[in-house]
Amino acid sequence: MKFIQQQPLQQLNTFGIATTAANYVKVTSLSDVQTIVTDRYWLSEGIKVIGGGSNILLTQPLDGLLVHNQLKGINVVAEDEQFVYLKAAAGEQWHDVVMYAVANNWGGIENLSLIPGCVGASPMQNIGAYGIEIKDVFHALEAIAIGSGEMITFSQQDCQFAYRESVFKRALKGQYVIVSVTYQLRKQPIFNTSYGAIEQELARAGITNLTVKAISDAVIRIRTSKLPNPSAIGNAGSFFKNPTISASSFAQLQATYPEIVGYHLPQGDVKLAAGWLIEKAGFKGWRSGDVGCHSKQALVLVNYGNASGSDVWALATNIIDKVQAMFGVSLEPEVNIW
Ligand code: EPU
Repeated sequence: MKFIQQQPLQQLNTFGIATTAANYVKVTSLSDVQTIVTDRYWLSEGIKVIGGGSNILLTQPLDGLLVHNQLKGINVVAEDEQFVYLKAAAGEQWHDVVMYAVANNWGGIENLSLIPGCVGASPMQNIGAYGIEIKDVFHALEAIAIGSGEMITFSQQDCQFAYRESVFKRALKGQYVIVSVTYQLRKQPIFNTSYGAIEQELARAGITNLTVKAISDAVIRIRTSKLPNPSAIGNAGSFFKNPTISASSFAQLQATYPEIVGYHLPQGDVKLAAGWLIEKAGFKGWRSGDVGCHSKQALVLVNYGNASGSDVWALATNIIDKVQAMFGVSLEPEVNIW
């Protein structure tokens, strides 16, 4: 393993923030991971793990050791009449796993096409889009404990999935390196096209014969049309979570803003479209220097070139304050702030 000091990070985070890691190493095998996470020196310095760097905002140079997960491999590990169990190493690109499933006509993750980032992050934040979340197809994951180096298998229940949440962002934060994830995919796909944007795109393209590939293609067209491509404009997808409020608070807001966008949840609460709140607060398309709020999706903050992490965070707090003042709603970042 090659340890690098003062590693530039601009190419390693999709926000394109130019900062450095005091120490950096790529890991390509389980034994690499085990060696590092049991090393007393690195344990005392502090260890952070990065995959695709697509869900972090770097607000300062990183001290300690940054471990770049580059574990590779996609394999079918089991199958039965209904399902295939597809195991992917944590350093694989998520979209490559989706394309592997699409090529084989296995259903379950086609709605999650083109999400940036690596496999390891998919359960960490329970990635989701267009009516599907990872928890819907999750079978198990393997993770190595930081400190002991022990490999542990986590079940669906162990992961405590919730909207953009898992145990790895909460009680077990910073305690494990996820090394592989196994997804349960359907040999006879069951399609989920209930999300408005998918229905509209399928109708627009005149698609009546639903296939895994047709849905994946539709999702790719939708995402390409409104989300900025991180290799062209720095961003980390949705910067905030969609907030949940009570039905009575929603009714009060509706009285003032009849067109407010919210979805009634089965438990009775209402999930608001944060993008709508941010747009209404006047930020959509806003730009100052190299930091801005995307012109087609206000939930996405962007770096047009040389914005610093603090510049982006300053805009984020400005948005949080305005939305709180206007609607009495607290926005919470979806992106991890480092
Ligand atoms: N909206 C606006 N203005 C905006 C953006 C959105 O009014 O600038 C309203 C529109 O009415 C729209 C509604 O918000 O109908 C929902 O918008 P959209 O379908 O774009 O979804 P979202 O709730 O803004 C979430 C996820 C996305 C995911 C999409 C599609 C979160 C935080 N974000 O966004 O995930 O792709 O749904 O399912 O839940 C990500 O996590 O990085 C991400 C991109």
